[in-house]
Amino acid sequence: MNPTPHIKTEGTSKFQIGEIKNNVIHYDFEKIKTYLNIKGHLLFGKNFRIYKEDEPLLFKLCCYYIQDHYSCAQMGIDANKGILLTGPVGCGKTSLMKLLTHLAPHKTNYEIIPTRNIVFNFNARGYDVLEKYNQNHNYCFDDLGVEPTGSHYTKECNVLGEILLSRYDLFCHPERSRRVLTHITTNLNALEIEKLYGNRVRSRMRKMFNLISFDENSIDKRI
Ligand SMILES: Nc1ncnc2c1ncn2[C@@H]1O[C@H](COP(=O)(O)OP(=O)(O)OP(=O)(O)O)[C@@H](O)[C@H]1O
Ligand SMILES: [Mg+2]
Repeated sequence: MNPTPHIKTEGTSKFQIGEIKNNVIHYDFEKIKTYLNIKGHLLFGKNFRIYKEDEPLLFKLCCYYIQDHYSCAQMGIDANKGILLTGPVGCGKTSLMKLLTHLAPHKTNYEIIPTRNIVFNFNARGYDVLEKYNQNHNYCFDDLGVEPTGSHYTKECNVLGEILLSRYDLFCHPERSRRVLTHITTNLNALEIEKLYGNRVRSRMRKMFNLISFDENSIDKRI
């Protein structure tokens, strides 16, 4: 285990994003922002920056990623559920979900998979692909709602709908004591989710996720 998770190393530079007192890390949001700016540059290029208008949302997400249960509770976030990150096209959802895995990987980690890739895989290989997601491993399904309907030979399947139903069962009854978490990025709102995946999925999603939304007027950061 990393004995200094509050000190991040990038090349030859070190970034201290908090202090240890009595064996507990006290994170500093200003220092976290400095680190995320640098890490964002490294991951996504020199145009990356933390937008002022995104800071309230980023603060919420950071509290979740460092698993600060007290601050999360104050903002109505359940640190034991996953994140459902919504917002308009290009506002930076996928980038944030990638970036934030670097913040406190000893607390919050997952594999990010575009939903379209899952369905393409299903179409090529069939129902075995669903098994991969029915395991004790955390995932972030990126861009829910843009994937096509699954179709393996003549059989059609609502692939992500099925996967979300089994992820709910894992979330409620994990084989091991640790919760199995699912995260999602999407442009869809709740009604659109219900239309695509049905009310059984939508009802379960309410229990599995904290809804965190970019402002509907957030700009498209694609240039
Ligand atoms: N904070 C940022 N500063 C500069 N560029 C950014 C920032 N966030 C994202 N970008 C850039 O904007 C583009 C869109 O970002 P991203 O793919 O994360 O958006 P998204 O919300 O997931 O979009 P979509 O809804 O289409 O999936 C990317 O090219 C990314 O590098
Ligand atoms: Mg995206």
